Amino acid sequence: MNENPTALVVVAHHRRDSLTVHIADQVTARLKEAGYAVDVLDLHAEDFDPLMTVADQPDWDDRDKVYSEPAQAHQRRILAADAIIPVFPIYWFSVPAVLKGWIDRVWGYGFAYGRSKPRLAGKKMLWLGLGGAADDDDESVPAMQEAMDTTLRDGVSRYCGIDEAAVEMLLNAEAQPQTIDEHGNLVVGEAMSGEARRAHYAELDRRARDHVAKFLGLV
Ligand SMILES: Cc1cc2nc3c(=O)[nH]c(=O)nc-3n(C[C@H](O)[C@H](O)[C@H](O)COP(=O)(O)O)c2cc1C
Repeated sequence: MNENPTALVVVAHHRRDSLTVHIADQVTARLKEAGYAVDVLDLHAEDFDPLMTVADQPDWDDRDKVYSEPAQAHQRRILAADAIIPVFPIYWFSVPAVLKGWIDRVWGYGFAYGRSKPRLAGKKMLWLGLGGAADDDDESVPAMQEAMDTTLRDGVSRYCGIDEAAVEMLLNAEAQPQTIDEHGNLVVGEAMSGEARRAHYAELDRRARDHVAKFLGLV
């Protein structure tokens, strides 16, 4: 690892006051404490357009295709990073559209994959997803983990030569616990308040910081 490592924290949330952005701030702080230079890429704040364009679609006959200026700017930020950490709310066992579009448009053929020596090899990638599911939801939680290990860790990171990759979930991300009962109904529990609420969010902060520290070997 570089002596002055850099991390790219990719934030995918439309609200600045969201828990996701708060957790991304915690992740950034933890990285800085460990001496990382942090590039925070807030996709919504930077008006990233997630829709695929002709300029950014792969040309299978030309792996040196020159992509759009915005895509190239993002590619430079990826290349500059030793560690890439997307922080996102889990939507439908996956990433929100803005983050999916970032992968689709920016992680292009010839840049992220399609070379005998992958350009992104040696980087680390931690996908940190916040989920409304309860920690003890034994149906959804293993299924979400398996789905995202397949599509994100293997389907994106490893496919692009990033072997050191992981998906971690921060669950119970809603102040009101949510489960699905045996009839398929959503059961929304009592909203937390006061000290219980404060302790709950402090625990999420702690877990986020621990995931980063463990993944990057900071502890
Ligand atoms: C469109 C949509 C899909 C969601 N899908 C899931 C899901 O598959 N699994 C899960 O645990 N939570 C799911 N949730 C709950 C969000 O993950 C949760 O609200 C979010 O992480 C809370 O963080 P925030 O306040 O930063 O948005 C979903 C929420 C929305 C709006």
